[in-house]
Amino acid sequence: MAAKPLTPAERDALVAAATAARERAAAPYSNFHVGAALLAEDGRVFTGCNVESASYGLTCCAERTAVFKAISEGARKFRAVAVVTGADAPTSPCGACRQVLWDQCRDIAVVMSTTGGKVAETTLAELIPLAFEL
Ligand code: THU
Repeated sequence: MAAKPLTPAERDALVAAATAARERAAAPYSNFHVGAALLAEDGRVFTGCNVESASYGLTCCAERTAVFKAISEGARKFRAVAVVTGADAPTSPCGACRQVLWDQCRDIAVVMSTTGGKVAETTLAELIPLAFEL
């Protein structure tokens, strides 16, 4: 099913939740702090931040942290994800996170925001066309 757009109020609340989660990023190696917030259909919001490892490849992105928290809390249907970074322009989810988001959420709305207030919105289907499904 196609992603249903968020209302402006829903979008602002989700970006605010991702911005707060970004404050909890554990990113001493890249110093690139990312926050994510995933909105479930039942209204619950699951947040995530990036958690880096000294063995760099073990790092978990903010988006996957949020997805794994949501799934482990029993949420199964989702409407949107917001991603917030301190970059100059909105940053989109990495390829690994696009696949994991697609696996669990299918075609949700994706809101990308900077801490400076620049916001872009797209859909997961736009970000991962012809996604792998098993
Ligand atoms: N990162 C995310 O949290 N989400 C993304 O979509 C891209 C990258 C994190 C991983 C790493 O901790 C830091 O940003 C730099 O790559």
